[in-house]
Amino acid sequence: MDIDGKLFKKFLERQESLERHHAVFAKGKQDAKGKLTARERIELLFDPGTFNEIDAYSRTAFTDSNFGKIIDAYGDGVIIGHGKITGRTAFVYSQDFTVMGGSLGSVHATKIAKIQDMALKMGAPIIGIIDSGGARIQEGVASLAGYASIFKRNVESSGVIPQISVIMGPAAGGAVYSPSITDFVFMTNNTSYMFVTGPNVVKEVLNEDVSFDELGGAMVHMKKSGVAQFVYEDEENTLLGVKKLLSYIPANNLENPPRVEMCDKNLDPEPKLREIVPDDTNKPYDVKDIIKLIMDKDSFFEIAEYFAQSVIVGFGRLMGQTIGILANQPKIMAGVLDINSSVKGARFIRFCDCFNIPILTLEDVPGFLPGIDQEHNGIIRHGAKLLYAYADATVPKITVIIRKSYGGAYCVMNSKNLGGDFNFAWPTAEIAVMGPEGAVSILYRKELLESDDPTKLKKELAIKYRDEIANPYVADEKGYIDEVIDPAITRSKLVFAFEALENKHINSPARKHGNIPL
Ligand code: HXC
Repeated sequence: MDIDGKLFKKFLERQESLERHHAVFAKGKQDAKGKLTARERIELLFDPGTFNEIDAYSRTAFTDSNFGKIIDAYGDGVIIGHGKITGRTAFVYSQDFTVMGGSLGSVHATKIAKIQDMALKMGAPIIGIIDSGGARIQEGVASLAGYASIFKRNVESSGVIPQISVIMGPAAGGAVYSPSITDFVFMTNNTSYMFVTGPNVVKEVLNEDVSFDELGGAMVHMKKSGVAQFVYEDEENTLLGVKKLLSYIPANNLENPPRVEMCDKNLDPEPKLREIVPDDTNKPYDVKDIIKLIMDKDSFFEIAEYFAQSVIVGFGRLMGQTIGILANQPKIMAGVLDINSSVKGARFIRFCDCFNIPILTLEDVPGFLPGIDQEHNGIIRHGAKLLYAYADATVPKITVIIRKSYGGAYCVMNSKNLGGDFNFAWPTAEIAVMGPEGAVSILYRKELLESDDPTKLKKELAIKYRDEIANPYVADEKGYIDEVIDPAITRSKLVFAFEALENKHINSPARKHGNIPL
């Protein structure tokens, strides 16, 4: 090869130009905003030396019009490629805000679509790092078409490969919809925001003043909208969070989740589990204390921690095996199921089912949240999502009823007749159509009205109700639960039960797809 020749010189010139862009121009601009460059983010995400970029020298598509400035930059504002994350192949695209605000034109979109196609074909996760002002205005309809082609691929990949979105700057306009189709959204506090229309449009249309952060900052999406499931304080930790999540999940829907061989093998009884549920059945406790004592040490990884907190979802491990955990949280609104917690739970169950992750349900739920607000906003429709998701899931499903299991909530939370494979209960379980106070008021209304001491009578009847109906033994004797267990042996019980379900296979009747109540 003639290394002094014209063609080799061109090779070096292009390389230098691109290096200069990332190391000087992009670095200066992103540093000033307290953000990493598109390339630095990739370097942090992938194992050192494993990342391979493709289409680094794609050039911007020129438009017919002279409206606005088009920057002819190598790469067209997005880096795509593949590499290894903790030894496992993954694909990535990472937008470069310093090229026309990371906006998406036709070449930019074609690159993203290309890496989406590769990830799907190879059966490996795809991570999108988003830092973008949305559709590139100068390129007009070509930008919109580009977004549509990405959305289509997001949908085709859904349930086949894990798709993760990491928002590390603006995600404006079209930039929000791809993340919202993907399985998980990460955001970085203070430097990322997501909105369909920005504060200026809000001011113009509604005459309302709102800041970027108030409208679509990380904590808004983590706490209120539920769009983001993970928020970290800086970009480094956000990317570490992505790596941690990937360690629990398989590369595609044909594989099982990775098993950790060096794991907590202790199956001894844990007497502390007998002490967590208070004697007073209306007293709260933290279900995370139970989760931590059941799962492998330090293995619980919570998802959507600040959204709809009456239900907790996350991944943990049992003898190294990934398990999806859904638990009612009695500490928050008594662990009730409302609209948001039903939707949060349903989406999690769907993910686990897509990717062969067995599901453990820890139940302590007084029921669905009553009230005008909930009814008018569709608790019937949204509660049905959780019900549907549980019934539809074919992965191994085990429920442990810790305490309350009343009414519709009993049915929903993976009850035996909904398809629970093993249903256990602790002796503290209360399984019935409704709680003692409600039941006594309905069945003994006349007697209570006529009584000299209705409070005392109500108390006596409630005790009788608990003894005769609202306990785990009635359900046990009728086969609606498989076994009442000593809380101390819950971990070993679950390990053996999930092992027994390892080869579970269900032949569902052929259909195009079910019609989940969206
Ligand atoms: C072209 C864009 C752009 C865009 C930003 N830029 N957004 N160029 N198309 N969509 C350019 C700016 O012109 C500027 O160029 C550079 O990127 C940096 O932008 P700034 O505004 O200086 O940065 P900042 O102050 O940080 O503000 C970032 C921002 C703002 C909040 C994202 O740029 C903004 O509001 N952009 C428009 C967001 C938006 O409304 N997008 C929706 C598009 S419609 P110079 O040359 O000055 O550096 C859409 C519909 C698709 O996406 C629907 C599909 C379903």
